[in-house]
Amino acid sequence: MRKEPPPTSLLSSSSATVAKLFVCFETKSLVATLLALALVMLIWNLPPYYQNLLSTTRPCSAPSVTSSATSTTTNVSLLVTNVSASPVTEKKYFTRKPTDSNKRTFQAYGNSAALFVQMGAYRGGARTFAVVGLASKPIHVFGRPWFKCEWISNNGSSYRAKAYKMLPDWGYGRVYTVVVVNCTFPFNPNQENVGGRLMVNAYYGESPRKYEKFMALEEVPGSYNESKYHPPFQYEYLYCGSSLYGNLSADRMREWMAYHAWFFGPRSHFVLHDAGGVTAKVRAVLKPWVRAGRVTVQDIKAQSEFDGYYYNQFLVVNDCLHRYKHAANWTFYFDVDEYIYLPVGNTLESVLNEFSDYTQFTIEQNPMSSLLCLNDSSQNYSREWGFEKLLFRESRTGIRRDRKYAIQAKNAHATGVHMSENVIGKTLHKTETKIRYYHYHNSITVHQELCRKFLPLSARNNVIWYDKLPYVYDDNMKKLANTIKEFERKTIGNQNNQANS
Ligand SMILES: *[C@@H]1O[C@H](CO)[C@@H](O)[C@H](O)[C@H]1NC(C)=O
Ligand SMILES: *[C@@H]1O[C@H](CO)[C@@H](O)[C@H](O)[C@H]1NC(C)=O
Ligand SMILES: *[C@@H]1O[C@H](CO)[C@@H](O)[C@H](O)[C@H]1NC(C)=O
Ligand SMILES: *[C@@H]1O[C@H](CO)[C@@H](O)[C@H](O)[C@H]1NC(C)=O
Ligand SMILES: *[C@@H]1O[C@H](CO)[C@@H](O)[C@H](O)[C@H]1NC(C)=O
Ligand SMILES: *[C@@H]1O[C@H](CO)[C@@H](O)[C@H](O)[C@H]1NC(C)=O
Ligand SMILES: *[C@@H]1O[C@H](CO)[C@@H](O)[C@H](O)[C@H]1NC(C)=O
Ligand SMILES: *[C@@H]1O[C@H](CO)[C@@H](O)[C@H](O)[C@H]1NC(C)=O
Ligand SMILES: *[C@@H]1O[C@H](CO)[C@@H](O)[C@H](O)[C@H]1NC(C)=O
Repeated sequence: MRKEPPPTSLLSSSSATVAKLFVCFETKSLVATLLALALVMLIWNLPPYYQNLLSTTRPCSAPSVTSSATSTTTNVSLLVTNVSASPVTEKKYFTRKPTDSNKRTFQAYGNSAALFVQMGAYRGGARTFAVVGLASKPIHVFGRPWFKCEWISNNGSSYRAKAYKMLPDWGYGRVYTVVVVNCTFPFNPNQENVGGRLMVNAYYGESPRKYEKFMALEEVPGSYNESKYHPPFQYEYLYCGSSLYGNLSADRMREWMAYHAWFFGPRSHFVLHDAGGVTAKVRAVLKPWVRAGRVTVQDIKAQSEFDGYYYNQFLVVNDCLHRYKHAANWTFYFDVDEYIYLPVGNTLESVLNEFSDYTQFTIEQNPMSSLLCLNDSSQNYSREWGFEKLLFRESRTGIRRDRKYAIQAKNAHATGVHMSENVIGKTLHKTETKIRYYHYHNSITVHQELCRKFLPLSARNNVIWYDKLPYVYDDNMKKLANTIKEFERKTIGNQNNQANS
């Protein structure tokens, strides 16, 4: 899979050409033209670090060059290199006996992490594309790998693009780190809609000689549609879920789904990512929503081959960002044990209209106990939904807690789990009186009855201490329970046969 360009690099051949031209031609303008051309070719062949010497900006590749198609399209698979097929060059060490007994050799066997593992590649507008994937983390932490993009049109033309990379996982990666490669052309490379392919060169280090070339994306003739990249979008709100794993409770998933389908309304859509957490029972509760067109479940179980942060959640949220970049006004990122809530007096539309000048806003949590319930003989808790009976909010103030967020995806280039650091535009944090979320930490994997500790009725009016933490009674979510149940029944029919399974 490793590829080396032919021994005479364009770099040396173009310098040679320049030298020859000075000898052979006297026409100054011709020389100037050819010299300029040679320089452009030269720049294209230099890695970004050398380019820094030539320009003050920091592109990862050269200004675009139009050339007739010379590129060979190779059939490249993105998965890990076949270890047994080690490069021929390395075997040479083995046969060559060192003449100096103090000269040590270093014999390498196999490859442990792929240079790039593509999850998705998406067009992000008329001139721009994003390629989302994983890459060997030490290469990106200790080396200086870079990328180059090229469009090969079906009519034979090819164009090169500026490429830059983002590492959006804040150093949380493990063997692999998340990489988003942004390829931006000076014009739409598929303007005439004849179709073509986006090719990416991924370099192992600074050297432009060692790289892998692969096809990231193909556009079939006639498929480019400018209007997809402008409002109005298909949805108002999109939910991008992170990796679902573990033994999830089907009841909690049912409740979460019904609540948020109601909360975000009919012009919303939910994208869930199954990293093994969507068991048969969970699938069954999601099924009516999938059938109603409200939910898409993506099977990402193959991610387990690649050791990243928590089931590759940073990869998944970035894939979702770019896949649905122009699908909705606002994209929300939070978990399935979290419930977005609007304090009384706000509607989602009014709040988001107010926030519309911001690209991103973060949301503060109400941390809820996942086991404290009121000792109230008038309630039959085994029949109640989680958010209907877990009514004790941990009430410490002034401490830092995780936040969740929403963005206008059209202005974001990459994203994280708690917020995005690669956006154009402003971020708003002071949102707690407008929008919040209830967090029932760890409740999603509990299969027995949630109510496991009972507090006296007096806890309704007093601060209660449990496990050295103060709790207060908060029944805002309980007040919505009947509305949600009624909404679920009206939208997908009676689900009670599945309750408490
Ligand atoms: C790519 O590989 C597939 C399957 O191995 C083969 O069918 C196809 O012809 C190849 N394409 C090219 C361009 O070599
Ligand atoms: C790996 O390479 C070996 C030797 O070339 C070949 O026999 C084997 O089928 C390859 N395995 C895969 C998974 O491609
Ligand atoms: C790539 O970056 C450019 C410039 O920062 C930006 O305008 C464009 O939207 C980005 N493309 C994608 C697909 O995110
Ligand atoms: C191929 O199409 C592009 C636009 O998509 C156009 O600019 C270019 O001139 C075409 N090339 C040929 C050889 O027809
Ligand atoms: C382009 O997409 C819009 C909606 O996004 C659709 O209404 C229109 O028919 C599409 N145009 C073509 C030529 O497919
Ligand atoms: C979504 O965007 C469209 C077009 O920009 C706008 O008319 C509409 O009010 C927005 N809807 C929401 C809920 O923000
Ligand atoms: C609940 O309250 C009743 C009296 O109202 C008491 O008998 C019972 O022990 C309490 N249960 C728990 C678990 O505290
Ligand atoms: C509470 O609800 C469960 C499940 O519906 C039922 O089996 C049980 O008999 C009920 N208990 C009481 C005291 O009503
Ligand atoms: C998941 O939890 C259910 C309910 O407790 C249990 O029956 C099942 O065996 C568990 N599955 C796994 C894989 O642990």
